[in-house]
Amino acid sequence: MPLKIWLDGKLLDQADAKVSVFDHGLLYGDGVFEGIRVYGGRVFELDAHLRRLYDSAKVIRLEIPLDKAKLVAAIKKTVEANVIVDGYVRLVVTRGAGTLGLNPFICKNSGLIIIADKIQPYPQELYETGMKVISATTVRNHPLAIPPQLKSLNYLNNIIAKLEALDNGVPEAIMYNHEGYVAEATVDNVFIVRDGVIFTPPVEAGALEGITRNLVIRLAKEDNLEVVEKNLTKCDLYICSEFFLTGTAAEVIGIVCIDGRTIGDGKPGPITKRLREKFFECTRSPRK
Ligand SMILES: Cc1ncc(COP(=O)(O)O)c(C=O)c1O
Repeated sequence: MPLKIWLDGKLLDQADAKVSVFDHGLLYGDGVFEGIRVYGGRVFELDAHLRRLYDSAKVIRLEIPLDKAKLVAAIKKTVEANVIVDGYVRLVVTRGAGTLGLNPFICKNSGLIIIADKIQPYPQELYETGMKVISATTVRNHPLAIPPQLKSLNYLNNIIAKLEALDNGVPEAIMYNHEGYVAEATVDNVFIVRDGVIFTPPVEAGALEGITRNLVIRLAKEDNLEVVEKNLTKCDLYICSEFFLTGTAAEVIGIVCIDGRTIGDGKPGPITKRLREKFFECTRSPRK
């Protein structure tokens, strides 16, 4: 069945959902987006995603054409129209059609696209065996360039790092910031475990403030695990006993090898597995 796409206030057949070639989202990556999971028909962590979307839009002075209540209604309508029970919603807000110049103020109407579809993250097997990654040589954006906290349509920094991963035969790359500290993976946040303590880079190190990251930190603390946000070096990644990534699409996935160094015993560790289980419990039942 072709998808129904929400485009500027209408639900259209996928084939009819088209944007202008003069949309600055296409010409310049001028826009913001969110990726959100749907579990059991419930749009997961919706408030947190909307908050980040409106915050990102504020940073680039982009007006989202709907207020939050209307946007929520549009998301739910799109999910229902596509009969998505377990899937994924992509919200995209573009600057809208303008001219060939950069001036965003020429674009009078920002565009809103909502796609609700199934999602195939990593193969299930990778969650059992754990994933291999490499360190990217491409440095994560400087905070005074496109701030990594901003979820903008301009993902070239991450895409170049992803090319490095694929060239090396692995699905993900770890990105470091301009000072050499771990920032994040191309679409996921980074966690490691050493001596039973969980470490993750602070957002200021150049990470998106991941919604899965924040949830996993809460879940770990509920289990009385210590979570420390601090700068991590490549060496910290090499010598940790457990390593995992978090993200809306990937959820919680263990890393078992980086740059040829085996992590722990080469299998996802107990804390990784426990947090993955706890994460799944949350996806099945709403949290207060
Ligand atoms: C660059 C980047 N870092 C981290 C994440 C993980 O964030 P979240 O858990 O909100 O999906 C994402 C995905 O949204 C991302 O694109």
